[in-house]
Amino acid sequence: MTKTKKMAAQKSATPPQGAQEVAAGEWVGKSQAMFERMLQEVPDAMRGIFREKLMQVLKQKAKGGPAAESHVLEIVQEIVPEPFKSNILKAFSTMGDIDMSVVEEIINNNPGGQETVISILHAIQAKCGYLPQEALILVSQKKGVFLSALYRLATSYKAFRVKPPKKYAVTMCNGTGCHVTEGGQILRELEKKVSENGSQITLEKVRCLGCCDMSPAVMINGELYGGAQAQARIAEILHE
Ligand code: FES
Repeated sequence: MTKTKKMAAQKSATPPQGAQEVAAGEWVGKSQAMFERMLQEVPDAMRGIFREKLMQVLKQKAKGGPAAESHVLEIVQEIVPEPFKSNILKAFSTMGDIDMSVVEEIINNNPGGQETVISILHAIQAKCGYLPQEALILVSQKKGVFLSALYRLATSYKAFRVKPPKKYAVTMCNGTGCHVTEGGQILRELEKKVSENGSQITLEKVRCLGCCDMSPAVMINGELYGGAQAQARIAEILHE
């Protein structure tokens, strides 16, 4: 091989600047959720092809390092046409401050297929307090479940919330045992408070909290209160 040919061969073996891969598993902040949100604008049938192409662009922008939110933002601003661009940017602006690495860890801790989705959603809600849209998008992508199916699941099961809870997530028992021991009165007062403007209470009624011996029973932000303790805590919230 001549010296010139050898140099040309060496040059072609060197990856072009910026073509190195995004470091495995490294997504900074909400970058992965943003990337997946961007792909939601692409019709299902085309999404696979677009994912591949846009991932290549992302890798070039990341230059072998982790994918940052700014890289995804640049792709949207430089490549995506209107009206999809505006839709995506609007969706980005309303993304909550969710630590997506937590969501990813939950997904990784639940290996398997679609049968793992319910446990994953429960775990996400336990961590985040609700099911953020970006988390659902990630679950949809990782588990191969349509986002629409996840939304249906999240909105038809009472156990799930798709909106962040207010300051106080109150689950009040409306079972007979609690109802007759001041529970009914407490519930009416809570409902009145909830109907007021700017109320900081999210109220849910259940038929039994499984602790009838300590009626009236109520759960406030995951903590169980019963009897006089429940009445005192509810009174504090009502007068706040
Ligand atoms: S009836 Fe209220 S906890 Fe069972």
